[in-house]
Amino acid sequence: MKRAATARARANIALAKYWGKRDDALNLPAVPSVSITLDPLVTETRVVFDDALESDTFELDGAPAQAGELARVVRLLDEVRSLAGIGARASVSSVNHFPTAAGLASSASGFAALAGAASAAAGLDASAGELSARARRASASAARSIYGGFAELPVGDSDGLAARPIAPADHWDLRVVVAVTAEGRKPVGSRSAMTVSRETSVYWDAWVAAAPSLTLQIREALLARDMARLVPLVEQSFFAMHAVAMSASPSILYWQPASVAALATVRRLRDEGVLVCPTMDAGPHVKAICLSADVERVERALAETEGVLRTVVAQPGPGIEIEVEPS
Ligand code: PMV
Repeated sequence: MKRAATARARANIALAKYWGKRDDALNLPAVPSVSITLDPLVTETRVVFDDALESDTFELDGAPAQAGELARVVRLLDEVRSLAGIGARASVSSVNHFPTAAGLASSASGFAALAGAASAAAGLDASAGELSARARRASASAARSIYGGFAELPVGDSDGLAARPIAPADHWDLRVVVAVTAEGRKPVGSRSAMTVSRETSVYWDAWVAAAPSLTLQIREALLARDMARLVPLVEQSFFAMHAVAMSASPSILYWQPASVAALATVRRLRDEGVLVCPTMDAGPHVKAICLSADVERVERALAETEGVLRTVVAQPGPGIEIEVEPS
């Protein structure tokens, strides 16, 4: 048997942040989250199940992946094999078609694309919800990248927990300006950072208690396309997430001097009347969310900020696209 499929999935940026797990084994988030799926930040993944292969292989951007990355991929492939009742090993190749090193090559687009391509190549007729749950078991933020536009991942205690769509990409013409502030990989991966945050931050319980209401308000502002309301809420979710990480022991600080400079630039733009808010994930880059009418001004200000290496502009994009190759 030899069967191949290719999937394209996009990165996403959380407006209401996911940070921390309620169940490590099932990979269930402790808080709900809301995100925008981003064009043109596409990961394309091809999976070939082939009886002639002796073991699974995983190539990322043309180079063999590290052992830890391969292990996470194999876990997802094992789930798909067991559901499909097949034993064939797979070769997986994944390419990030991101504008040069956007600093956003997260696991979200990668595991969403892998869940889609592996399921299709194995002949499974999976619904979007099933694909989302499959992606979530590997990386919870990946659950949201199955859907285009705006999506949410609620909290839940079942292994079938999946993200769901909130609104399509054309619901709101937002822009996300990424200010890239450093090269290379992040110092602490999100998985271990979340564990240390839960186990040691004095703010952990407050974060888990506050997140549901904050997420609900963000969802409402999004549906109402109310930027003046959205801006302070997104900012609060992001600062609260980082406050939890920073107050862990050992402390997790993703910020670089240029991150702080970019945050100051966004604050200045706000003082000048521009409706723009910053957010950051488990890394040093600052992402500024604004209306399309303001994107040039926001991008220029960030590009001129000391220490910012370059900027990349993204916008709401489509959900996962899957193609099965004729066998
Ligand atoms: O990469 P993951 O799925 O372990 O989670 C990362 C979570 C953040 O990107 C930091 C926030 C979010 O909600 O996407």
